Amino acid sequence: MIIYDWRDRLFTLHTENTTYQMKADEYGVLLHTYYGPRVSGGDLSRLIRYADRGFSPSPAESGRDRTYSLDVLPQEFSCAGAGDFRLPSIELELPDGSHTADLRYTGHEIRRGKYALDGLPAFFGGEEDADTLAVTLEDRTARVSVELLYGVFEKYDLITRAVRVTNRGEGPAVLCRIASLCLDFPCADLDLITFDGAHAMERRLHRAPLRPGVQSAGSVRGMSSHQHNPFVVLCERDAGEEHGLCWGAMLLYSGNFEAAAELGQFGDARLTLGIHPFHFRWTLGPGETFTAPEAALVCAPGGLGPMSRQFHRAIRERLLRDPYQDRPKPVLLNSWEAFYMGFDEEKLLSLARAGKELGAELFVLDDGWFGRRDDDTTSLGDWSANAKKLPGGLAGLCGKLNAMGMEFGLWIEPEMVSEDSELYRAHPDWVLCPPGRPHIRSRQQLVLDFTRPEVREHVFQAIRAALDGADVRYLKWDMNRGLTQVWSPALPPDRQGELYHRYVLGVYDLLERFHREWPRILIEGCAGGGGRFDAGMLYYTPQIWCSDNTDAIDRLHIQYGTSFAYPPCAMGAHVSASPNEQNGRSTPLETRGTAAMSGAFGYEMDVRGLSPEERAVVSRQIELYRDCYDLIRRGDYYRLSPPGEEGVPAAWAHVSPDRREALVSVVAGPTGAARPFRTLRLRGLDPALVYRVEGDGRLWPGDVLMAAGWPIPRMGEYESLRLRLRAEP
Ligand code: GLA
Repeated sequence: MIIYDWRDRLFTLHTENTTYQMKADEYGVLLHTYYGPRVSGGDLSRLIRYADRGFSPSPAESGRDRTYSLDVLPQEFSCAGAGDFRLPSIELELPDGSHTADLRYTGHEIRRGKYALDGLPAFFGGEEDADTLAVTLEDRTARVSVELLYGVFEKYDLITRAVRVTNRGEGPAVLCRIASLCLDFPCADLDLITFDGAHAMERRLHRAPLRPGVQSAGSVRGMSSHQHNPFVVLCERDAGEEHGLCWGAMLLYSGNFEAAAELGQFGDARLTLGIHPFHFRWTLGPGETFTAPEAALVCAPGGLGPMSRQFHRAIRERLLRDPYQDRPKPVLLNSWEAFYMGFDEEKLLSLARAGKELGAELFVLDDGWFGRRDDDTTSLGDWSANAKKLPGGLAGLCGKLNAMGMEFGLWIEPEMVSEDSELYRAHPDWVLCPPGRPHIRSRQQLVLDFTRPEVREHVFQAIRAALDGADVRYLKWDMNRGLTQVWSPALPPDRQGELYHRYVLGVYDLLERFHREWPRILIEGCAGGGGRFDAGMLYYTPQIWCSDNTDAIDRLHIQYGTSFAYPPCAMGAHVSASPNEQNGRSTPLETRGTAAMSGAFGYEMDVRGLSPEERAVVSRQIELYRDCYDLIRRGDYYRLSPPGEEGVPAAWAHVSPDRREALVSVVAGPTGAARPFRTLRLRGLDPALVYRVEGDGRLWPGDVLMAAGWPIPRMGEYESLRLRLRAEP
């Protein structure tokens, strides 16, 4: 619900449990007055205190009043160059060379339904569940206007923001910096949580109190990256899973981003989130508009758990465009870790047959099927089947798979090219690289200039031709290197600063084309595992390969961190061989199943050589996954006990929305002597219901399970157990 009070020029945005408020003050500055637990209303600018602060300048209109300064006031959209020295939301370079933006309120519009953004991912909502507020600010001297867009999803406690900047002058205006989100906090006793890591160890949680100055996490790799994620949390110092005030903020963007938090001189805090300013310069000609990507916010009065669950629900229901929205996804078997690039049709079919017998339903042919691709030095860009490996082409293989009752899925890497390829030989100028420089290679490959429509068109047609005649139900869209040498002949020298963003727009454009062309194909995103695991990609690829690290124990950490923002159903997770290929650790097959089952489940190993006992385990896992599919897909996710605490098993639960069913998973860590027994206190159950716990066979009242807990038996190293809970009628 959006309420405008014209007397006070006050905008109050209510969701079920939160309130967000802003106010155009007497000078037209758009003040941020509140974002927190739902309150009845009133003008909360009364919380702002005005004081004469040394070295904090005042705008001309305030005359001799030295207590009015943009440098200390909480604002919706901070400007560089106008007297606020804190993190700016916008920095403009004007034709006269000045870097001043001073934006004041000029009008607004309130609409039913959610705004959409041209060419960019965004949460969607109809008139029944979302409202839009569009506030216009203008710099009359610069003749630049800014439209701040707010989407209010009442039932999801979600508020989205986006920004459109329009040049209304006669000369060019250059955007040097644009944040989609600026959020000011009056109090600074807050922790900042970021999710950071590396290839094969993504999204590890890091938490630290804000300290004076700016703390930031971001990416300049042209992708949202393995190293940092465009999702951050600010929370009260003592906030935990189920208590304390938390604000989560995500950017729906898959390229360079910056999340920055600044603790100001007077104990105030500011969070900005948007495109990274590194090598960003966007020229707006007269009449042109720039749209900044969407940011989404959840404020949760009751802790990190409720915050995540709100994001999960909103993403599942209002962001993912999933062909399997209303039916179970097939359990997949991927060829990568079984064969890498060393296969032929016979091998593939024998693997698929073995998988089929165990219950797998979709066979995914990973890298190595095209051109002369036997290793990673060659053939990216040549999207036609390797005739030696696949004499009947993709259509032939697909036909045989279909005949055995398996669906067919395929790996592609559309954004890349090998120097040793027909494509590169024909179009060496289609890669990103400044003239006269030798190529910087990464994984032996180069990046195609996706800013150019003719390049995207070629890739689209090549992939369409490859799929022709094959009934493909799944595509894995991979991206295996970061961007370097970001230069394109398609843009003049003074516009090269647009390239990083134009690249992302190009990727989105082609993804959207895929989505439209093949609405029934499930596209799984991937970038060397989880190098582009962000809400922007999720709009086009409703699941993302979470990490190249398939070790069950490392995966607990990766999936734990990922779950703070993104729902389990979006995390591609596979059972692989033991000892694990990435880290050499041995884990029981049961545990590998337990870890993978908390995501979009599948197998990625040579299942042909399994012993009868192992085959029985796999068949049971697949059966259980099918049985629990709805719980995992639509249930609420509870992090019960984080992985990695010495002597304490990791635990989590999926609870059905009606709280009558749950799947609880527990995984023990490394072994040790004299370990105490642990009791697991469950969450999210109905205290008034009695549950039958399958596996332990007993009846347990919900209140007992939540208050007193369930006794975890002694478990061996890396052993796991799964509990099915069902409420008695
Ligand atoms: C990336 C992916 C892997 C696999 C390989 C193939 O690393 O993350 O899952 O597809 O590429 O080259």
